[in-house]
Amino acid sequence: MKYNNPWVEYWNKDNIWSRSKFWRRQMEVFVRLTADVMDYNENDKVLDFGCGSGNFAEITAHKVGSILCADMSENYVSICANKFSEVHNVSVVRVNPDLSDLASLGSGFTKVICFSVMHYFPDLDYVTSFVKGVQQIAVPGTKLLIGDIGNNNRTWIDSFRALTFTLREGMFIDAFKLISRIWLVDPNYRKIKQGGDSYLIIPDTYLMELGEELGVKVTNVETQLTVNANYRHVLIEY
Ligand SMILES: C[S@@+](CC[C@H](N)C(=O)[O-])C[C@H]1O[C@@H](n2cnc3c(N)ncnc32)[C@H](O)[C@@H]1O
Repeated sequence: MKYNNPWVEYWNKDNIWSRSKFWRRQMEVFVRLTADVMDYNENDKVLDFGCGSGNFAEITAHKVGSILCADMSENYVSICANKFSEVHNVSVVRVNPDLSDLASLGSGFTKVICFSVMHYFPDLDYVTSFVKGVQQIAVPGTKLLIGDIGNNNRTWIDSFRALTFTLREGMFIDAFKLISRIWLVDPNYRKIKQGGDSYLIIPDTYLMELGEELGVKVTNVETQLTVNANYRHVLIEY
């Protein structure tokens, strides 16, 4: 029987994340903490895969040559299309939720961001196809930063690190508001998330082994880059 990924429907409709100040701030922090490694510059052609409401492009468009925001969600694509209609170097495209049109996104990408997206993929073959697909549309040397890869193993130490992260980065009040809104306005989110049990679990060594197979460099980024202290971040250099 074919697996019906509940996240496809969730992301396709409007939800609390599209206007979340907390999530926008989280992206600012993520961009700042990875700025050295990503070295965004005016020669970059960037793909933001799973762009959501376009936080990444809002923050970085002035530094790079161009950004293509791609998402499977009609809701987010229409938000981004409105947001960036007057921004000359940001374009927006809807992709199929089965990766069948990755090659049609163009070529010559120099940086690719995939932030808080991979655990919504349906299976590990999809992860493999994505990493291989990016290789086809990117130039040699391209960096693919896969950030905030979810899992369901949160310990109390992770919760403590999440708290200190929000305090350190001045996100505590927005985090509190977001959590309240999840409970009050968007109970569907918790129902689908099931404490992370509905996430695709990507084994710790999976991307490393895939990198070896493809002959690309894969690095686990150990710094805590997001509030989700137990989530992982992986840099792939083609
Ligand atoms: C948690 S949101 C993150 C959005 C954005 N990266 C950000 O951080 O603001 C997850 C996004 O991934 C998108 N997404 C999930 N699976 C996808 C897929 N297979 N192809 C394209 N987009 C996908 C969803 O539609 C949603 O916009």
